This record gives sequence, structure tokens and C-alpha cells, in this order.
Amino acid sequence: MIADIVVDLQYGDCGKGKIAHVLCKEEKYTHVIRYNGGCNAGHTIYHNGEKFITHHIPCGVFFGIKSIIGPGCVVHPDSFFKEIEDLESRGIQAKELVKVAANAHLITDFHRIQDSEESDIGTTRRGNGPAYRDKYARKGVRAIDDPRFSNYIVNMYEEIYENEDFQQKEIKILFEGAQGFGLDIDWGDYPFVTSSHCTVGSAILNGVPPKFIRNTWGVAKIYETYVGAKNFEGPDEIFESIRELGEEYGSTTGRPRQINWLDFDLLKMAARINGINNLVINKVDILEKLKSWCLYSGPTLYEFNNKEDMEFWIKSKLLLEVDEDIQVFFSGDKEFI
Ligand code: IMO
Ligand code: MG
Repeated sequence: MIADIVVDLQYGDCGKGKIAHVLCKEEKYTHVIRYNGGCNAGHTIYHNGEKFITHHIPCGVFFGIKSIIGPGCVVHPDSFFKEIEDLESRGIQAKELVKVAANAHLITDFHRIQDSEESDIGTTRRGNGPAYRDKYARKGVRAIDDPRFSNYIVNMYEEIYENEDFQQKEIKILFEGAQGFGLDIDWGDYPFVTSSHCTVGSAILNGVPPKFIRNTWGVAKIYETYVGAKNFEGPDEIFESIRELGEEYGSTTGRPRQINWLDFDLLKMAARINGINNLVINKVDILEKLKSWCLYSGPTLYEFNNKEDMEFWIKSKLLLEVDEDIQVFFSGDKEFI
């Protein structure tokens, strides 16, 4: 067995969907597994020139790859079935390809009501927090308990360890994460966090041990965005322009994302804790349009003359301070699609 992981190093919305989509196109994965979160996620994917936004469903469906919502996830049935239908109506064979782990937990409509009433940290109001709360309180309902899922259920253990289809052929998994390091329940800026784990540790919890992990792809942006109730945006007027040019509005809730300069120390911490060996820094073209190149390291704001200087600074610091073997790629917003 071999597994690659796509993990977000900032506050979500860094382009995980794009990278997962590219990897699916290039690698012959047998499975794509979503390892955390629920329909709070919104992954924007361009497939054959068309724009798709997925919430629950992993991007393997675009390439005929079995796509599993893993045990670490929570699923809202109505949203799940709507997403399946929407994909089917656009020619994607989601019904045949998507599976839900028997032990994934359900988000009920009551969880959504609770989330809307309780949300003071600016959640997506999709019921995630209350669903995980009930899971850990041992009061949750699992996918296997809901007859509507009967055609979709998969037992993760049997699927990856006792599957006769893979006696001759190696299992090759892509783990597609949701949310990001800054939103992680343990490492994020608590309480302004989501309710699941958003690091590589979370992927491993879905049944694949560390010895099978091959590549870990960290995904970040050249500036930062965050959606939620804390005060995040800097005072600089340029952030308004970045929001417009970068189309920084939530793909799940439509809320404007708050913008700030890249926080290098957070990126370094996320790179270390996730043990990434590949890093994609997206949306460099947005700053290129504005000819503004800044980042924070601690409280210090560094300003660079051009793209090359900023890229060189980031890359050399990461290789020196984190791991000299990390492959760093800088990418424009719609590159690789
Ligand atoms: P993707 O996968 C960006 C944020 C919410 C809120 C906090 C908690 O597209 O990167 P929750 O509904 O999870 O209880 O909200 O987390 N949040 C995200 N921000 N991208 C996401 O997903 C997010 N999922 C949750 O805005 O601040
Ligand atoms: Mg998103």
C-alpha cells in the first residue's frame, strides 16, 4: 500500500482541491479518502474547463476513482445526497464511485440548529461542532445506522486490507484533507477552530499507518485568509484589492474572507508538524498583479522588491530551518488546471 496526503498549512481555502485534482490526474490512485470535517469544507475544482465546488465528496470522482468519506468525517445526509445528484446531473459518476465509511458519524438537522444558535466563533453553521461533540460524548449516530446510506456503506478495514480486488494490485490512496492547520482543534487558534484534526495525524486515524505514507503535500497561499469571528484582517488597504482579485469569498457560505500577509512562523510550524516533503504556495499571481510582496515573521513585517526575492526568502528559510529536502513550488491561482 502507498498513500499520499494533501494537507492545508493555513486557515483552509489554500487550494487543496486543485492539488488533489492534479495528483489524481497524474497518479493512478485506487482510492481518494477524505479524512476529516464535513460539509463545512468547500473545495473549488476546475475539471475539463468547468467549475465545481465539492463539500463532502473527495475529488477522485472526477477521474473514476473510488472516493471514500472516511471514519474521521461527519456527514449530513441531505447535503450528501444533494451533492451526489448535482455531480450526476453534470455527468460525474458519483453514485457508483462514492462510499461512506460505516463508522463515519452523521450530522443531524438538530446539530445544524444547535450550530446556528451557538455559533459565536463564526462557524459555517453546518452542524460540525455539535456532531463531533455527540460523537465524543458517545451519543452519535453513525452512517451504518442510517438505512438511507445502505448502498454507500464501506467497511474501511475490509476495503483496504481484505479486498479481493487488490490481491494482485497495489492499493494507492490519496488522502484529501479539509480545513487547515490554523483551524485545527489542537494546533489552531483555539477557540477559533473547527472541531476536527486537520493535520497528517488525522489521515492516519482513518486506518492507514505511517509506514505507508509516501508524499505529504502541504498547501498554502502567498498571503493568508481566514473566515470566522476573530479579528484577522490587517489595516492595509491593499487587502481589499487582494480580496477582489483573489476572489476571496467563502465557497461554502459566501462570506468575505479576511486577509493578511503570510505568517511565516505559522507556515514553518505547520510544515514541521505535518512533516511535509512537498509544498505548493498558491496565488502568487494575485500579488504579482498588485506588485506588493510582504510577509510577517514574528511581529516583524518584511517587504520585498519583487516576487523572486520573496520566493527566495521563503524557500531558503524553509529548507534551512525545516528540512532541506522539501520541494517548494510557487503557483498562480489557476495554474495546473
Ligand atoms: P476548506 O476545506 C475555511 C472555519 C469557519 C470557522 C471555523 C469553525 O474549504 O478549507 P466549523 O463550521 O468548522 O465549526 O467552523 O472554521 N472553516 C473553514 N474556513 N475553509 C474551510 O474548509 C473551513 N471549514 C471551517 O469559517 O471560522
Ligand atoms: Mg474552501
